[in-house]
Amino acid sequence: METKGRFIVFEGIDGAGKTTQIELLEKRLRAEGRAVFRTAEPTESVSGGLLRDALSGNTRRSACEMAALFTLDRIFHNVNPVNGIEKMLSSGYDVISDRYYYSSMAYQGSETDAVWVKNMNLACPEIRRPDLCIFLDLTPEESMKRIKGGRATQEIYETYEKLSAVRDKFYRVFEELKETERICIINAARSIEVIHEEILSLLGL
Ligand code: ADP
Ligand code: TYD
Repeated sequence: METKGRFIVFEGIDGAGKTTQIELLEKRLRAEGRAVFRTAEPTESVSGGLLRDALSGNTRRSACEMAALFTLDRIFHNVNPVNGIEKMLSSGYDVISDRYYYSSMAYQGSETDAVWVKNMNLACPEIRRPDLCIFLDLTPEESMKRIKGGRATQEIYETYEKLSAVRDKFYRVFEELKETERICIINAARSIEVIHEEILSLLGL
């Protein structure tokens, strides 16, 4: 019988601690004997490359262009036959993704027609719904401190004003999706270990 893995998504504004927590969870799941596939958006696809170029500020793109490119990249993320989400889940892997459509709804949804962005993602037959979304919630003040401490360059959304608008939008998106999706909001201002333990208990580990 085919064993299906779990599809877990981490979300949060830039610098909230997603990479840190995903690494810890991946280690723990592997220690439990699970096969784990870690992935992220933007992906390594052609559209992912266009997105990175725009995120760095190198090429200017409109909010609609960004929303469409992220959606295209997400379809590739799901269906690519080598290591797409569908392929890995059906091979028995737990798939952990650093960002997914909630980011489009929050980042692009706060800059252009939010209903269009939402529908483009949720109505797409080739974009799977996750089993769980873990939102690492941090104030933009704290996140900007973390970003400035850890990185040499800043991306286009990494300003206090933008991250504030995005965090508010995340809350509204989660409110809209709460009946149909499993979303857990975690206070990410605490220590790395305490957050990790809370995530493990959410997953029954
Ligand atoms: P993201 O992937 O969400 O951008 P990172 O995991 O890269 O976030 O974390 C951003 C920075 O904050 C890194 O320098 C990381 O070491 C630090 N960091 C992560 N979690 C915490 C925490 N709970 N408390 C303090 N600093 C943290
Ligand atoms: P990422 O490397 O995930 O940044 P961080 O580690 O700081 O969270 O960068 C991806 C950037 O792209 C981030 O600013 C959020 C943005 N983004 C969107 O605007 N829409 C999307 O759909 C996705 C997946 C990401």
